Amino acid sequence: MISVQSLKKSYTIGNKSYEILREIDMQAEKGEFIAVMGPSGSGKSTFLNLLGGLDTPDGGEISVNGKDIHRLNEKQRTLFRREHVGFIFQNYQLLPNLTVEENVSFPMYSGGKDKQEIKKQVDELLKSVSLEGKDNNYPSQLSGGQQQRVAIARALSMNPNLILADEPTGNLDRRTGTEVLRLLSSLHQKNQLTIIMVTHDVYAASYADRIILLKDGEIESDIRQTEGANHDVMANLLAKFNS
Ligand SMILES: Nc1ncnc2c1ncn2[C@@H]1O[C@H](COP(=O)(O)OP(=O)(O)OP(=O)(O)O)[C@@H](O)[C@H]1O
Ligand SMILES: [Mg+2]
Repeated sequence: MISVQSLKKSYTIGNKSYEILREIDMQAEKGEFIAVMGPSGSGKSTFLNLLGGLDTPDGGEISVNGKDIHRLNEKQRTLFRREHVGFIFQNYQLLPNLTVEENVSFPMYSGGKDKQEIKKQVDELLKSVSLEGKDNNYPSQLSGGQQQRVAIARALSMNPNLILADEPTGNLDRRTGTEVLRLLSSLHQKNQLTIIMVTHDVYAASYADRIILLKDGEIESDIRQTEGANHDVMANLLAKFNS
């Protein structure tokens, strides 16, 4: 599903170059739920953006669903993203002047579907994130957790097989964050969705079945968790492991 080989990324500021990712190798199977952890500035968001084709690497290869996404031209890459990848961000990134229904449906209009069909799909999506009846609310009329659930519905609107989430629970309290994690986890199980989630939070990471730790531009560790782990116990273990 995802294959990353010798991925490199540097940023240049002034005349100084900073190596953010040195030599990243990683494979992910379809249906894996992976958490990416690491200190602030370790390149987690950079890595996620490269995986989603939002940024370009300096070297190496990233193939998603058998396509080397950085060999595609800009237009092909946009299309590829639209068809295969759903993004979720810490600050939701909903469009403030669109209603919930419009936020979820707008990616769908590019596909040539008719209005009726889109409406039906949006209703189903909103139901799947427990937001029935909120279609006409604007984002400012929703709680943080509800806004993030709209963002999840939007990420799912094109039926992607890969979800890239950057700190999806970063702005939420524990209870609301847990709702979002349970939702991601159930979507992952039900639809065989592959999820790559960047997080600082060991509790959030405990929902993933594999945890990758980035440090100094490299993958420092890559561990798998057993199924059905207790999240609090797992979070404690991870906290020790991270310190
Ligand atoms: N567009 C950019 N130009 C220059 N440097 C950048 C750019 N984007 C990120 N960086 C630098 O790359 C490094 C990694 O950034 P990144 O956002 O990937 O970190 P992160 O692990 O996601 O951190 P955090 O946990 O704080 O979100 C940082 O040192 C950052 O300053
Ligand atoms: Mg980040």
